[in-house]
Amino acid sequence: MSVITTQRVGDILVIISDNPPVNALGHAVRAGLAAAISEAAGDDGIKAVVIRCDGRTFFAGADITEFGKPPLAPSLPDVVDAIEQCPKPVVAAIHGTALGGGLEVALGCHYRIVVPSARLGLPEVKLGLLPGAGGTQRLPRVAGVADALSMIVTGDPVDAARAMEIGLVDRLAGADTLAEDAIAFARDVAARAGHPVSSLRTDRIAEAANHPQVFDKFIAENARRLKGFDAPKACVEAVRAAVDRPFDEGIRLERELFMKLVSGTQSKAMRHLFFAERQAAKIDGIPADTPMIDIARVGILGAGTMGGGIAMNFLSAGLPVTLVEREQAALDRGVATIRKNYERTAARGRMTAEQVEAAMVLLTPTLAYEDLADCDLVIEAVFELMEIKKEVFRRLDAIVKPGAILASNTSYLDIDEMAAETKRPEAVVGLHFFSPANIMRLLEVVRGARTSPSVLKTVMALAKKIGKIAVVSGVCPGFIGNRMLRPRQTEAQKLLLEGASPWEVDVALTEFGFPMGPFQMADLAGLDLGWTAEGSTSSTIREVLCERGRRGQKTGSGFYDYDDNRRGSPSPETEAIIAEFAAKSGAPQRKFSTDEIRERLLYPMINEGAKILEEGMAQRASDIDIVWLNGYGWPAFTGGPMFWADTIGLKTVLDGLERQADALGPDFTVSALLRRKADAGENFN
Ligand code: 3HC
Ligand code: NAI
Repeated sequence: MSVITTQRVGDILVIISDNPPVNALGHAVRAGLAAAISEAAGDDGIKAVVIRCDGRTFFAGADITEFGKPPLAPSLPDVVDAIEQCPKPVVAAIHGTALGGGLEVALGCHYRIVVPSARLGLPEVKLGLLPGAGGTQRLPRVAGVADALSMIVTGDPVDAARAMEIGLVDRLAGADTLAEDAIAFARDVAARAGHPVSSLRTDRIAEAANHPQVFDKFIAENARRLKGFDAPKACVEAVRAAVDRPFDEGIRLERELFMKLVSGTQSKAMRHLFFAERQAAKIDGIPADTPMIDIARVGILGAGTMGGGIAMNFLSAGLPVTLVEREQAALDRGVATIRKNYERTAARGRMTAEQVEAAMVLLTPTLAYEDLADCDLVIEAVFELMEIKKEVFRRLDAIVKPGAILASNTSYLDIDEMAAETKRPEAVVGLHFFSPANIMRLLEVVRGARTSPSVLKTVMALAKKIGKIAVVSGVCPGFIGNRMLRPRQTEAQKLLLEGASPWEVDVALTEFGFPMGPFQMADLAGLDLGWTAEGSTSSTIREVLCERGRRGQKTGSGFYDYDDNRRGSPSPETEAIIAEFAAKSGAPQRKFSTDEIRERLLYPMINEGAKILEEGMAQRASDIDIVWLNGYGWPAFTGGPMFWADTIGLKTVLDGLERQADALGPDFTVSALLRRKADAGENFN
């Protein structure tokens, strides 16, 4: 059956798309739409047209899988033009998400009607692109420059209510009556004399034409978001053209910018990440009919930094949580922190007071392990010591009902050792959240040797429910993320002894696109994590910094000196401490270029990533990219470590590692997989 069908309802032609899963505007859809519009235009019996979609959503955009392939006519811009030029009024009937090319189709229509749950947006920037079917020119003309600029540059959608407010949609349909309401709306407008044509409108752009500084102001306010990315700058340039230039010229510029971006490395990298994120949710070798375990109540053990944050994820998703601590004071502190975090969110207007109470009422704090008995999933977030973890698993196994899942938030420890303490090793899994756990989107799901498919499938679905991006890892120290962080940290420390300064090392990474370098990160986290004055022996740079009261941002100094606004500057005291250690180490001192520092820090990470792959600890290279992007701030426009390695060439990485062999030391070994692929001219992805 064709993906586009038409139905006549009296003198209205209803055009229906049915192209699961998301009605992407692939070639067949575009061709069908163009033919149906031409049918309506040529038929005197038709007075108005409705375009709607079957399935879960209105058109969610161009078909991303077609990018980079030879274009097939009709192009999306041509289809949108044809809709706009149709002599009969065309109504877009929107449910689900009208995104990218989908919203551009809707903007080509003369009217838009939406269900209250609909969301509309131009997310192209998240794929390293700009809207390429007239969106940058039509959205400002319909919704005004300020809102268009923000929607196009952030890529974030607006809901139906906001879309009404800014004039992007004309009418709200009933939640379940979109098809009928759209036909009724089409009948109304058919009787009108003239119809709004988005490309001809000037009313919403007039004000910005008189205040061109709105663009410079926007760029200044969003400098951090724009840094390193090509697409947002192109988005601003195109929207500016909507104000400065006639429509046709604006469209020409939009096309030119789109073609440049779509063939560039940044967009390739970001498209890779789009599919990588969806791929990560899939677990190889799990049959589709694997049953899931119903999770109605979650138990959390330990109300410290992680336990509290983990609890918030479930509370926010409406799942009741039983939170257990070993002493009242810690429990009270944990609960107070959860409340404070919610209240801070409410104060910023991102939650209502009622939502705060609704979340808190789902929380049951207690000191009794026995209260965990009826939980379907218990996650322990107690101290990172194997003996304590084992004891905890023995106790949980005895108390928590049969069939329930027992999970650990450990950062490094062996899940299989914990599982061995229980009579249900198949129900034991690692759920490694990242700090702050209520905010960071990454979740490493650690698959033990005996973890059952059912448990894995359940936790992957649960991760999606609480808004996390889950990636499956095998059992190895540090799993995927922290295991790859280790060589980077080791080399960063060694570089200090060889003559590089912390600020040079940090700048090499921030210029690459990381939000922070390793020493800025250490200062933020606190240098005294795991440090005590009594146990300190002045044997590392870090210990001496702590001994001198330089414990990171919180004490006003660490590797850096901090001002009252927590802005760091290079510290002569730190330099002197490092110089002493360097002299003691006897390492020859020299200058390092930014490129050399980057190679030294990043190539060993790629090498570790390759080992993770060859050992089967990650299912696929793209999963590693997703971990580093969402857990450690690896810059999205490079596609993640493994994609970046493919981009620069695995031979380049291998040559770099071999060149640096002396500095990397005798313990460093090149991954066999990396060597094989580099020699064969292959990629990871
Ligand atoms: N093209 C091709 N495939 C797409 C797609 C698209 N635009 N959007 C989604 N898919 C695929 C996904 O890869 C996934 O495939 P899989 O099942 O094989 O893994 C499947 O559709 C379902 O997608 P999700 O798992 O993401 O489903 P959700 O229900 O969670 O989310 C969505 C639905 C909100 C529509 C989300 O898929 C999404 O954000 N899609 C992308 C939207 C987008 O970026 N549109 C702009 C495209 S660029 C463009 O339009 C250029 C134009 O200006 C010229
Ligand atoms: P934390 O020290 O802030 O909290 C641990 C809490 O557990 C304390 O409140 C303590 O009173 C409680 N506790 C200890 N033993 C207990 C027991 N037997 N029963 C009940 N409660 C008990 O530690 P944090 O940072 O929250 O770490 C917890 C776990 O999460 C560790 O395994 C750690 O490796 C892991 N983790 C930590 C991350 C971080 O950035 N802090 C990131 C990811 C994982």
